Amino acid sequence: MKRVRWGVLGCSGFARRRAIPAMLQAPLVDLVAVASRSLEKAEEYATHFGIPKACGSYQALLEEPGLEAIYIPLPNGLHGEWMIRAAERGIHSLTEKPFTADAHEARRVADAAARCRVQVMEGFMWRLHGQHRRAREAARAGTIGTIRLVRSSFTFQLERKQNIRLSTALAGGSLRDIGCYPVSTARFYFEDEPVRVYAAANIDAEVGVDMRVSGILEFPQGRALVDCGFDLPRRTHLEIVGESGSITVPKPWLPDPEAEIRINDSIERLPEQNQGVEEFEHFSRCVRTGTPCEYGPDDAVRQMKVLDAMLRSIRSGRPEDV
Ligand SMILES: NC(=O)c1ccc[n+]([C@@H]2O[C@H](COP(=O)([O-])OP(=O)(O)OC[C@H]3O[C@@H](n4cnc5c(N)ncnc54)[C@H](OP(=O)(O)O)[C@@H]3O)[C@@H](O)[C@H]2O)c1
Repeated sequence: MKRVRWGVLGCSGFARRRAIPAMLQAPLVDLVAVASRSLEKAEEYATHFGIPKACGSYQALLEEPGLEAIYIPLPNGLHGEWMIRAAERGIHSLTEKPFTADAHEARRVADAAARCRVQVMEGFMWRLHGQHRRAREAARAGTIGTIRLVRSSFTFQLERKQNIRLSTALAGGSLRDIGCYPVSTARFYFEDEPVRVYAAANIDAEVGVDMRVSGILEFPQGRALVDCGFDLPRRTHLEIVGESGSITVPKPWLPDPEAEIRINDSIERLPEQNQGVEEFEHFSRCVRTGTPCEYGPDDAVRQMKVLDAMLRSIRSGRPEDV
């Protein structure tokens, strides 16, 4: 199969550490260009990774002849705008989580993608890792009975310096940045949407973003308890509890190469896998074959509706319908 010609918007720290090394390992990815608001920065990045073309603006990258797909590791508040601009040029987008700033913007992206016949996907690479496929297969097979509770957490200590996560204008805050993981994971295991949510948060007095959030998501079949925060020690945790057993995933979102899950009393080790490579391969294959992505824009709209309802609940102090 012919490789897909990819570009990257922004010289992001995460992309430098994880995403670009994964793209360079993915057989279907041909990484041809990187863009930054500063040409000098783009050139440094391009030289470091051996990327042929450096662009001094994001728009210039979209105008590169033959470009087929972009990866967007920009601040959360810019994902939507650049997915729409790319769609209008017939370019497919894989964007970092969260998909957009809110569900309204997510809907606009989904409509643009449909109108322009391009693929768009929210970059939750964990969903493509075998440990979750195996855990869900075990749950579907009835190993733990009907799922009634999903408990999951994602917290870490954010250094108090300039950071996109501390900006309301860039759609920062702990819920959109990392709370999106427990929320998407609960939706993944219930295979459904919550109907009502309640969330409480600590809002930073200086910068105005939510620093720590606890939430209850009411699904038709059970509940999810989720928490996230920028001001607690590093913790990631996932437990799926059914009527007759439970599954624990100790490293749900950034697993070691050889992941391990516990299904009731037995521990299962999964074969070594790089979920970043899986994600870029999956998206590239969908672009090349025209097969819809496993997690398309409608899924992303539903995810953003849950985050919006939680943010409404934080403001109102009451449960909110999704
Ligand atoms: N999937 C994961 O595990 C994971 C992990 C971490 C982060 N992320 C996501 O990746 C995205 C980037 O996060 P990051 O930690 O890599 O952030 P970062 O290092 O701050 O990178 C963001 C990039 O966006 C560009 N940018 C454009 N407008 C900006 C503005 N007004 N202020 C600051 N930067 C601006 C900058 O690139 P130029 O200056 O080159 O234009 C910057 O390098 C976020 O959406 C985040 O949620 C995902």
